[in-house]
Amino acid sequence: MNLQGSPITASGAWNELVSLSKSDVSKHIRELFAYDSNRPANFTFTGAGLQVDISRQRINQEVLTALLSLATDRGLVEARQAMFSGEPINSTENRSVLHTALRRPKSDDLVVNGKNVVEDVHLVLESMAKLANQIRSAKWLGATGKPIKHVVNIGIGGSDLGPVMAYEALKPYSDRSISFHFVSNVDGADLFEVLQQVSLEQTLFIVASKTFTTQETMLNANSARDALFRALNKTGSEITAKHFVAVSTNESKVIEFGINPDNMFGFWDWVGGRYSMDSAIGLSTMIAIGPDNFYEMLSGFHEMDLHFLNTPLEKNIPVLLGLVGLWNRSLLGINSVAVLPYDNYLKRFPAYLQQLTMESNGKSVTRDGKPVEVQTGAMYWGEPGTNGQHSFYQLLHQGTATTAIDILYPAKSHANLSGHHDVLVSNALSQASVFAFGRTAEELTKLGVAAELVAHKVMPGDRPTTVITFDLLTPKVLGSLVALYEHIVFVQGIMWGINSFDQWGVELGKEVANSISPFLTNTEDVSKFDSATQSAIIDYRKKR
Ligand code: F6P
Repeated sequence: MNLQGSPITASGAWNELVSLSKSDVSKHIRELFAYDSNRPANFTFTGAGLQVDISRQRINQEVLTALLSLATDRGLVEARQAMFSGEPINSTENRSVLHTALRRPKSDDLVVNGKNVVEDVHLVLESMAKLANQIRSAKWLGATGKPIKHVVNIGIGGSDLGPVMAYEALKPYSDRSISFHFVSNVDGADLFEVLQQVSLEQTLFIVASKTFTTQETMLNANSARDALFRALNKTGSEITAKHFVAVSTNESKVIEFGINPDNMFGFWDWVGGRYSMDSAIGLSTMIAIGPDNFYEMLSGFHEMDLHFLNTPLEKNIPVLLGLVGLWNRSLLGINSVAVLPYDNYLKRFPAYLQQLTMESNGKSVTRDGKPVEVQTGAMYWGEPGTNGQHSFYQLLHQGTATTAIDILYPAKSHANLSGHHDVLVSNALSQASVFAFGRTAEELTKLGVAAELVAHKVMPGDRPTTVITFDLLTPKVLGSLVALYEHIVFVQGIMWGINSFDQWGVELGKEVANSISPFLTNTEDVSKFDSATQSAIIDYRKKR
């Protein structure tokens, strides 16, 4: 399918949305509720174990209808099919985008370039399960004959954020007799601190890198191997092989590092880094929660995939949330989305979403290289509630800019401590209400607030808020949740006409860092750099 269509602004539905955005519809959320008190029922949707309430968004039925017809004009249905069937929709890299194949049941077939990719996926899953079971049952022994008690994932970006997020999210399912650590930053402090906490003779390092060339990851992996050799007072690939495994697509580099190729878990160029937590990149997750729970997580992903693929657009959660996000970003000019999980186990979820959403849709040219005509990719960020409430919510409530809000909470908690969960949920509901409805000067005056304080206490409200709820944060629910956001990103990328699956914007910084690096330690002339960099290099040379 050729996704290089006409600009979004050429669609009649776009023009209709522009006039709606300037009309009564963008009245205060309070007025939208006054007009239709049935909004919660009319704008709540369910699928794959999630319940999504968009009634507190600045939309009405007319807006949704126009958004849905824009989706049809933009070829969303055809594009969705193209992604699921493995067409090379990552056009700048000529690659398929098949993270959905990572969670298809073994009985499925999906032949791409003459290969059944589902079969390949399950072969890797089975070898991951074998390793995970060996570690979990203390059968994998380190070089001194002791079982593994610590697992350290070394990776960055998609090779870190998914694994660490999933580990934190699914801690209640993890094997507590093994400690898990995640090293990503090239700042030596990251690895250094982990090395203080583990006994190296009982540590397994997972070097997770699609390319096996990423500077940060390879430097950390080399330093970890040096530390191991020092601790065991021995060197060589026999030692490396007992304490290092790899998740990568680059076999020759893995072998060169000293890892036994039997302990290399592969994936494919059709899995983008930020879409890879359910591939072999999830090896640490599988060791932590066990293969059965990992398969449960995959089934949650798959359930959301099927919902996305088969549910009519007007009830399709990723489609609706993608379109509402587009409305907020491109029509209402809201450039930021705060993700506020009222579930402490989801504490790394906002950080995970930052890469998923911003590396995917932080683009300003369309697939055919022309400037996009509307605002794209919002900034995603957040912290778990209630911590954020005592930090940045002030700005969310009373700052001059409007931020869109995603609130998430479970009906049940894993933490069996009396009273906590009800208080947590009451805070989530309170914030959702205040974000949307605020408090007027009139209400404050009626409550007897001193006249001189009224202006300070007015809460404008009208912050577009989505509330996502689920029963309990299980592996399956986590899978659905992640797949939901993956597909929201896809929907928006198609609507904007951009390629959500490349990331050229991160390359130049890597290239320049590589060119600066030798100049920090040599004494060579630095005139090839810009003057600010020249003076910073000279200053660093004096002080290092
Ligand atoms: O930051 C760019 C990027 O390519 C991400 O997309 C990716 O997740 C990360 O680097 C890590 O890459 P690799 O897995 O190849 O080490």
